[in-house]
Amino acid sequence: MSAQPREQWSTRAGFLFAAIGSAVGLGNIWRFPAVAYEAGGGAFLLPYLIALLTAGIPLLILEYTIGRRYRASAPGSFRRMWRPAEALGWWQVAICFVIAAYYAVILAWAVRYVGFSVNLSWGDDPDGYFYNDFLQVGDEPGAITSFVPGVAWTLLAVWLLTLVVLWLGVRRGIEWCNRIFIPLLVVFFLILVVRALTLDGAFDGLDAFFSPDWNALTDSSVWIAAYGQIFFSLSVGFGVMITYASYLKRRADLSGSALAVSFSNCSFELLAGIGVFAVLGFMAAQAGVPVDEVVSEGIGLAFVAFPQIVSQMPAGAFFGVLFFVSLVAAGLTSLISIVQVIVSAVQEHTGISRTRAVLIIGGALTVTSTGLFATDGGLYLLDAADHFINSYGVTLAALAVLIVVSWYLRKLPQQQAEADSSSSVRLGVWWRLCLGVITPVVLGWMMVDSLTGEFS
Ligand code: PFF
Repeated sequence: MSAQPREQWSTRAGFLFAAIGSAVGLGNIWRFPAVAYEAGGGAFLLPYLIALLTAGIPLLILEYTIGRRYRASAPGSFRRMWRPAEALGWWQVAICFVIAAYYAVILAWAVRYVGFSVNLSWGDDPDGYFYNDFLQVGDEPGAITSFVPGVAWTLLAVWLLTLVVLWLGVRRGIEWCNRIFIPLLVVFFLILVVRALTLDGAFDGLDAFFSPDWNALTDSSVWIAAYGQIFFSLSVGFGVMITYASYLKRRADLSGSALAVSFSNCSFELLAGIGVFAVLGFMAAQAGVPVDEVVSEGIGLAFVAFPQIVSQMPAGAFFGVLFFVSLVAAGLTSLISIVQVIVSAVQEHTGISRTRAVLIIGGALTVTSTGLFATDGGLYLLDAADHFINSYGVTLAALAVLIVVSWYLRKLPQQQAEADSSSSVRLGVWWRLCLGVITPVVLGWMMVDSLTGEFS
């Protein structure tokens, strides 16, 4: 373990900005609207809220109490709790490594699309432009033959920026970066949503988003999608919030902060859903087709559907730039948090300096993400990595943490006391009920169900 004094956030607001920055990311803007729509539109909101209240917020509070109490990275915190539990932290570090490697690539696409928006480079075929011209997806699925130069160079720039921020440290790097990008993101996004709502056909889009499909509630995959989205979106289960909370002052308000972060994240997410669907309604009106015919999957939504809209709307280039800059700001602050989980764990475990840790981890990540995902055909790998990590990797991590912490070690009362000692909101028995019973049972069932679905 390193002997250097632990870094700290300068103020509570600094921590909140960073935690919100981690939570609000590409997941809110391109993942949520597509997942929600696919899982039954309005009916998705109910499982989503249940997942938020019974799993998302309680787990977020648990991660905060673990980080602040044990004051270390994810593996270090679990180790201090119970030696063998260190493995849980390393599992989370491994997940973060894979996510960082592909998340950075999507971010690099978004950076390129800021430029493409200026002169509407995609012409009248955004679909072909994205897959063939830009990503050069080969004819053979899975074929990985060479770098896509435009992506690879941008990716290197994304990595350089991320690593510089991490190298500057918690206060001068992470906190500052979030203090700049989060307010910018909020302003840009509000402009975009207001504009979207004033487009022709916007309300047909909202209708598609909010019209409930109650049958979907009996479908277990809808519930799985809701839990998966809540974990990904709140950055819960990845060790991020343990790491960030380890830089808190002793007296920091934990439960109040968790509520503030969840509320901000979910409002942003719903707003993104509203904005995206309003715009899809506009597209449908232009094409004279029903809204569900213009909806495409997550990745396509941002890089295929949006360019199309940008081409069609008045002053599209301006709004295109605003949209992709928002995507970059949201994604960058999340990427930083994911990599910090790895850097802090390695730094503590080996005792090396921050500079060295950033160089080693950054180098390994840059090579992995450029070599695997910034190639023609890397898209297939990216899709598979996203699916498996988020369906199984994170669920398994969250489940294992709950089994160890609440069932085996019976630490919930102690962690509750840790939170209540300094929080504006006191945790009641519901918190222990959620983490001790409801969530582990639901997660266990989800794992079995989706695994059997995968192989049937
Ligand atoms: N919460 C981020 C998003 O919604 O895009 C993604 C994310 C960040 C996932 C940090 C995992 C993580 F550790």
